[in-house]
Amino acid sequence: MPSTETVAEPLVRLRDLHLSFGNNPVLKGIDLDVHRGQAVSIIGPSGSGKSTILRCITGLLQPQRGSIRVGTTEVHTLAQEAQRIELRKRVGFVFQQYNLFPHLSVLENLVIAPRKVLGRNRIDAEKDARALLAKVRMEHKADAYPGQLSGGQQQRVAIARALAMRPELILFDEVTSALDPETVGEVLTVIRELTEEGMTCVLVTHEMRFAEEISDIVYFTENGVIVEHGSAAQIFQHPTSERTQEFLRHALGDPGRRPPIANDPYLLTNLSRYSLSV
Ligand SMILES: Nc1ncnc2c1ncn2[C@@H]1O[C@H](COP(=O)(O)OP(=O)(O)OP(=O)(O)O)[C@@H](O)[C@H]1O
Ligand SMILES: [Mg+2]
Repeated sequence: MPSTETVAEPLVRLRDLHLSFGNNPVLKGIDLDVHRGQAVSIIGPSGSGKSTILRCITGLLQPQRGSIRVGTTEVHTLAQEAQRIELRKRVGFVFQQYNLFPHLSVLENLVIAPRKVLGRNRIDAEKDARALLAKVRMEHKADAYPGQLSGGQQQRVAIARALAMRPELILFDEVTSALDPETVGEVLTVIRELTEEGMTCVLVTHEMRFAEEISDIVYFTENGVIVEHGSAAQIFQHPTSERTQEFLRHALGDPGRRPPIANDPYLLTNLSRYSLSV
């Protein structure tokens, strides 16, 4: 067994996670690993527990049973809010609703947390912020206010804001589901580039073809359990569980099996519509 850290130790490790809201069991024994540099997608029906898993990883929810480790932090043992805030400095979280500060310019939205939380000086924080805005093709809107931007543009700023904290990993929860269809592509393009650069990402998404394209590992959840997981090719092209097959048939709107992604020029052409509108 190789002893290198990346092979041996996942950055995120969930084991036997159980969580109930009152009498409603929502997670019923979740095991999930995310290695450094991986893009891991969680797919599954509405209400199956996907967002709850992400919220457990950031310490926003405490499971009743099981363990959560992020790096060397045993998240399930954190008793104080201050410790959980420390954790959230290292774990970026981007939501469906971008939640930018409406009274701050785009640049200030990126600068405020690094200055106030990480104690960085203004010149350095602004320099980083401008570089990140360039990365998400929003540098020309540095002085605009969130209300002056499209949904896709705001979401790209929200991603840059998460990156400004230099997180070890980023969690994306349905970040395109509130967007107009024509702006979905520009956000997916940014996420794709992050995964290509080796950013560790966990994505909850209903964009199945995107998940198939960018994920190293895909987990299919239903009713609080992981039904199956594996490589994107395995889950999307050779799912073993009937439930996964049924879900994908429905989600992809395609009754037949599609050819492998590398041989699918239609898909690649189709993805080119994910161009940036700035
Ligand atoms: N704060 C809460 N209080 C009570 N029940 C909750 C709470 N948050 C989630 N639930 C319940 O837990 C279950 C799982 O919710 P979760 O949001 O994790 O699902 P999901 O897979 O993300 O669904 P969707 O695809 O619709 O976002 C649902 O039945 C939901 O109603
Ligand atoms: Mg959800």
